[in-house]
Amino acid sequence: MDEPLPEALERVLFTAAAIRERVAELGRQICIDYAPPARELTVVAVLNGSILFLADLIRQLPLPLRVDFVGASSYGSGTASAGAVTLTRGIHLDLAGRDVLLIDDILDTGLTLHALGREIARAHPGSLRTCVLLDKPARRRVPIQADYVGFTIPDTFVVGYGLDYQERYRNLPYIAVLRPPAGAAGPITLPPAPA
Ligand code: XMP
Repeated sequence: MDEPLPEALERVLFTAAAIRERVAELGRQICIDYAPPARELTVVAVLNGSILFLADLIRQLPLPLRVDFVGASSYGSGTASAGAVTLTRGIHLDLAGRDVLLIDDILDTGLTLHALGREIARAHPGSLRTCVLLDKPARRRVPIQADYVGFTIPDTFVVGYGLDYQERYRNLPYIAVLRPPAGAAGPITLPPAPA
């Protein structure tokens, strides 16, 4: 990588090239799974973190598809999940009988995907699958798995390629680990989930 890492970042986890390659593989798999007789896919992307992933992934999907967005918040501005998921933007497209693919940047505690899955189920889609770029299984609080996963990562806070820390770093073309704050013993990790 030519550019030096911003001071706040510890190390690059996935380069832009590695992400590109993995997104292309995910696209190929999704195309196989939704192969002809092609029904129209309805892609619902979770704001704001999935925007880069969405933009790159749908360009790998030569299928008829519609795109909508859903807003959900559980994090506030820090690195620890607040627990409850609030819907900040509802889905506008009709989902009844549709093949819905829900896309998020990262599956962490699972609370967001679980809450959104329930919300979408209320609209009676024909099918619902989930696709996340990153999976952090160590933090899971609800037993949920995504149908498509880009990379599985350890329990550490990551930014870049759409993922933010206090709304920063979304524009980085790579995914990096955030450096621990001064005085902290190790990398930033999220607190253990309450029982
Ligand atoms: P849950 O815990 O509901 O989390 O599965 C999903 C949402 O939490 C955010 N999240 C992160 N954002 N770096 C980030 O920038 C991370 O390491 C991280 N872990 C969780 C993200 O918005 C995701 O949609």
